[in-house]
Amino acid sequence: MMVAESGGSGGGSGDGGPGGVAEDLKQRLERRDATVGVIGLGYVGLPLAVAFAKAGMPVIGVDADAERAALIGRGQSPIEDVPSDELAPLVRTGRLTVAEGVGALGGTDAIIICVPTPLGKSKEPDISHIVAAADEVARILRPGQLVVLESTTYPGTTEEVLLPRFAASGLAVGKQLFLAFSPERIDPGNRTYALANIPKIVGGVTPACRELACALYGQIVERVVPVSSPQAAEMVKLFGNIFRSVNIALVNELAIMCRRLGLSVWEIIDAAATKPFGFMPFYPGPGLGGHCIPIDPFYLTWKARHYDFSTRFIELAGEINTAMPYWVVDRAAQALNDRKKSLRGARVLVLGVAYKKDVDDLRESPALKVIEILESRGAEVSYNDPYVPSLRAKRLRHYGTFELDSSSLTEERLAGADCVLIATDHGAYDYDWIVRHASLVVDTRNATRNVRGHRQKIVKA
Ligand SMILES: NC(=O)c1ccc[n+]([C@@H]2O[C@H](COP(=O)([O-])OP(=O)(O)OC[C@H]3O[C@@H](n4cnc5c(N)ncnc54)[C@H](O)[C@@H]3O)[C@@H](O)[C@H]2O)c1
Repeated sequence: MMVAESGGSGGGSGDGGPGGVAEDLKQRLERRDATVGVIGLGYVGLPLAVAFAKAGMPVIGVDADAERAALIGRGQSPIEDVPSDELAPLVRTGRLTVAEGVGALGGTDAIIICVPTPLGKSKEPDISHIVAAADEVARILRPGQLVVLESTTYPGTTEEVLLPRFAASGLAVGKQLFLAFSPERIDPGNRTYALANIPKIVGGVTPACRELACALYGQIVERVVPVSSPQAAEMVKLFGNIFRSVNIALVNELAIMCRRLGLSVWEIIDAAATKPFGFMPFYPGPGLGGHCIPIDPFYLTWKARHYDFSTRFIELAGEINTAMPYWVVDRAAQALNDRKKSLRGARVLVLGVAYKKDVDDLRESPALKVIEILESRGAEVSYNDPYVPSLRAKRLRHYGTFELDSSSLTEERLAGADCVLIATDHGAYDYDWIVRHASLVVDTRNATRNVRGHRQKIVKA
């Protein structure tokens, strides 16, 4: 395998040294006189493509989903965080173009791979999209290109999966061709932290690879954090998500325990969070959602097994978090029972089906699991979500097909429900009004904390 150990502007001779291929690419990246290719224009790839285009670098995007590619090619954004008003001028001026296939990226200077990394049926990593993208990139590689993988994955992927494919081209990695991993850490819907002000972790196969990847991202983010290797960068991303998963599981368990003890977990968390150091609040809920937290930790579990290592915290957190939708439904059944009603035949109106507040993203949403369990226990379920007009058209990975459209939220509908279950605490909801007109509100998110009247109708799950 051809991997050059030295190179970059820091020293060495040959193609990677000053005046060589690496130095030339570095200078062009810093002058923003380089073309960027982005493979996968989803939640991660599209904001990235837009950021480079806005920084003045020509961008060519590619997506395997022809419909999505065509939409973006017309300047229409499928993603909330990228307004079409921002995208359209970049497309109109040719700063961002959408091409049909990876073949169009042959002339680019940097290629960033942002394809999905789901789990297979037995919670094993499914890196087939990475492999497909890497194979396509391997066919078009030329000297002087930098390739960065951004998809979340297990430590070792960049060097075990991408590197051999690229090295087979005969190009010396670290001298003629540069390879790095840089995890995406965006939080869709977050108004405070976005691509530009979230520090970007970068690990290169060689020092030259790292330096060039740092130069690339330095054009669009405020701070780049280099680490020693692609594996380290891969692990940093997973650690961040595992940290959240484990802490959410801890607080979910605390919530169930507090219920048993007759305490309010919300009161406990708020009071504990007054400690100015050494504590970070996490909040209970109906379960984990989104593309990252429920999935990524199991990438590490799988890898650890190869080393006879068992990731006990990850497994335990997964167990507790997976049980939460069942706990929520049990709470609803108990609340109905207290009102001399049974869950079977009860009309349950679920508010919010997106996996978190104020987004339209349904991926791994625990609300879908809650609906499925409610239906399986005989409840008549309807839902309202201002961001999700229909569950029919949405891509549902694990929950089969729902035949549900969002119901309008009216006083009559609230009054007609035996139970209103708040699964996602969208900011647009008027919780005072909801509680006033409902007969029973099961609140999984503490969304009703400021509601003054009718508190006897509220059950915290
Ligand atoms: N969504 C997030 O908030 C987030 C945050 C950090 C990291 N990530 C990680 O980033 C990666 C991408 O996630 P995402 O949310 O953008 O996924 P996504 O599903 O929104 O987008 C991925 C896109 O890649 C396209 N694609 C798949 N295979 C392709 C191929 N071979 N060639 C071209 N296009 C291809 C798909 O059609 C899709 O449009 C994942 O590994 C994910 O774990 C996601």
